[in-house]
Amino acid sequence: MVNYWIVGVWAIASVCWAEIIRDFYHVASHYWPPLYKLHAWHHRVFRPNLTPVSETIYKQAHWRHDVPEAATMMVFGLLLWVAAYLWLPEYHWGAAAGCVYTLSFLLSAIARGCGIKGADELTDITHQPGNFLTPPGNWFVNKPYHWKHHFDNQNAYYCGTFTLIDKLMGTALSLKGKTVAVTGASGTLGHLLLKHLHKAGAKVIALTSGNQTITLNIDGENLPMKTITWQIGQEAELAKLLEKVDILVINHGINVQGERTPEAIAKSYEINTFSALRLMELFLLTVRTNENIANKEVWVNTSEAEVIPALSPLYELSKRALGDLVTLRRIDAPCIIRKLILGPFKSNLNPIGIMSPDWVAQQIVNQAKADARNIIVTINPLTFILFPVKEFFVSLYFQIFSRKAISESKAAMTPEKSSVSAKIS
Ligand SMILES: NC(=O)c1ccc[n+]([C@@H]2O[C@H](COP(=O)([O-])OP(=O)(O)OC[C@H]3O[C@@H](n4cnc5c(N)ncnc54)[C@H](OP(=O)(O)O)[C@@H]3O)[C@@H](O)[C@H]2O)c1
Repeated sequence: MVNYWIVGVWAIASVCWAEIIRDFYHVASHYWPPLYKLHAWHHRVFRPNLTPVSETIYKQAHWRHDVPEAATMMVFGLLLWVAAYLWLPEYHWGAAAGCVYTLSFLLSAIARGCGIKGADELTDITHQPGNFLTPPGNWFVNKPYHWKHHFDNQNAYYCGTFTLIDKLMGTALSLKGKTVAVTGASGTLGHLLLKHLHKAGAKVIALTSGNQTITLNIDGENLPMKTITWQIGQEAELAKLLEKVDILVINHGINVQGERTPEAIAKSYEINTFSALRLMELFLLTVRTNENIANKEVWVNTSEAEVIPALSPLYELSKRALGDLVTLRRIDAPCIIRKLILGPFKSNLNPIGIMSPDWVAQQIVNQAKADARNIIVTINPLTFILFPVKEFFVSLYFQIFSRKAISESKAAMTPEKSSVSAKIS
């Protein structure tokens, strides 16, 4: 008797195989000059608003890239089918699913190449002009994600349907040329984050509450960074600067250790929670255009204290409050918001921290390039289980029992207008 589970597994595997071949064909198209000559047409054809520059180039782009890409997927799909036939003859029909799946792409690419009316709108959804309604997808390629391949960095964001290969290659986020501002810049982690972001090709801006110019030591050379001074409570003064920032890293923080006075409570919440929230909201107000939706991001350093005791009640309380507010806000935020969930590392704030801050900063950058929305760097294995479970259920609870303001949902339909109407002062 035929076991339908095994046929199903072959079917899913053959579709994933087709997507892997598509992504590698695309990567090869950028690295192997004969293929790039053909693929270049695909890049020539679109303007930043995704309208084609000409119908002729649009059709040629399909004959030169999309059709050969789908044909390559078909050849490899047939090879998999033959392998399935030789290995498990009873179940080989499952592997045919990948060929049928690929055939739909081959036929639609031919239809677009022939200029059949409506074929593009129906089958080329990542290249349709119009407003971006959500930030770039995390596991699935959507229009903003693919737009970044065309107009942010052509040597990143290669994937066509699932983002897995980009995540594995570290090309799911390109930091090259991005303007990244980091708060707490004179602190241990802030300083090292600036260094690793700079090394990854970002144009970094140090945001500090001190008045020293931040200098980075890169390969033995001291490089003074663009340094902006700000103060808690005066976040609004950064509004103009944030317009030009692609990625804001909210990293400043304090730990009042065992204190529990009213002053310590106020200080912990004001610095760790409310100033971070005000900065995040101020930044979200700058997300207006399709380009902003695709490229802008906020990273918030909330800490492992969201789920693990830090032996400092006020630190935990203020960081958990920030963590929950970020969870609430990112349900329908206009751009990507990442959380940094870090375990104890050695710093001014935590002199007995175990991890090396340099290693932590490097891991943060690596995970961001893999598009991790929750960047977890810790030596505590419990955090890898507790945090995702907590985040999932808290987010679900917030989604069920809170709603988007009506004015806000209208604004989200027209990204030219500000997508966040409420300003926290
Ligand atoms: N160390 C750990 O074990 C650990 C673990 C998890 C998470 N974290 C988090 O990582 C972040 C960086 O901490 P760190 O360990 O690198 O500590 P750090 O060396 O003490 O750096 C924190 C920085 O925050 C800024 N800051 C402090 N008070 C401020 C104020 N009143 N107004 C504005 N900025 C203020 C300061 O930078 P400027 O003077 O440049 O403004 C300070 O150098 C913090 O959010 C912390 O909670 C740390």
